[in-house]
Amino acid sequence: MLVTAASRHGSTGDIAVALAQAIGIGRDVDAAVIPVGQRPDPNPFDAVVLGSAVYAGRWLEEARDYATAHAAALRARPLWLFSSGPIGAPPFPPDEPYDVAPLIQTLRPRGHAVFPGRLDKKLLSFGERAMVTAMRAPLGDFRDWAAVAAWGQQILDELAGRREGTADRVDR
Ligand SMILES: Cc1cc2nc3c(=O)[nH]c(=O)nc-3n(C[C@H](O)[C@H](O)[C@H](O)COP(=O)(O)O)c2cc1C
Repeated sequence: MLVTAASRHGSTGDIAVALAQAIGIGRDVDAAVIPVGQRPDPNPFDAVVLGSAVYAGRWLEEARDYATAHAAALRARPLWLFSSGPIGAPPFPPDEPYDVAPLIQTLRPRGHAVFPGRLDKKLLSFGERAMVTAMRAPLGDFRDWAAVAAWGQQILDELAGRREGTADRVDR
């Protein structure tokens, strides 16, 4: 399985690694983590997880470009998407990234998960700092490792179901 994600400040990259560990530990699935920026070819893989950090309501451009460039190969294999962004409790901002609905239509993934992210002021650019201050966004690391691991388990279960001949389904 290929786990590939776009991350500007590293927190989504960490989620991709944790996901691959949850998928790969003690099981017969090998999960490779390759940043979207390296533009990994999905064709040699049996299944793909594609994710992105969310900025200003959108996936990062490199993840959107990757999804477009490899749409046919991604659609042709079991695919899961994830977005990492909302901060705090209740999640801020509360809306799903607005380009995920068209991505789901094009790529037909089996699922889309949204995971809380991290906002660490010292990693942000000057402009980003100004923006999060203006938005009064809560600072901190809100990543939910248990939720990431549980989703990895769910992906494994769905893959196993497919191996046993269960009908394909879109889970969203
Ligand atoms: C300038 C800025 C804008 C953001 N806009 C959103 C947004 O619209 N929706 C969202 O869910 N998260 C938003 N976030 C939160 C980030 O997605 C979150 O910090 C994420 O964990 C960053 O991932 P990365 O470290 O992989 O880049 C924003 C963060 C910054 C700094």
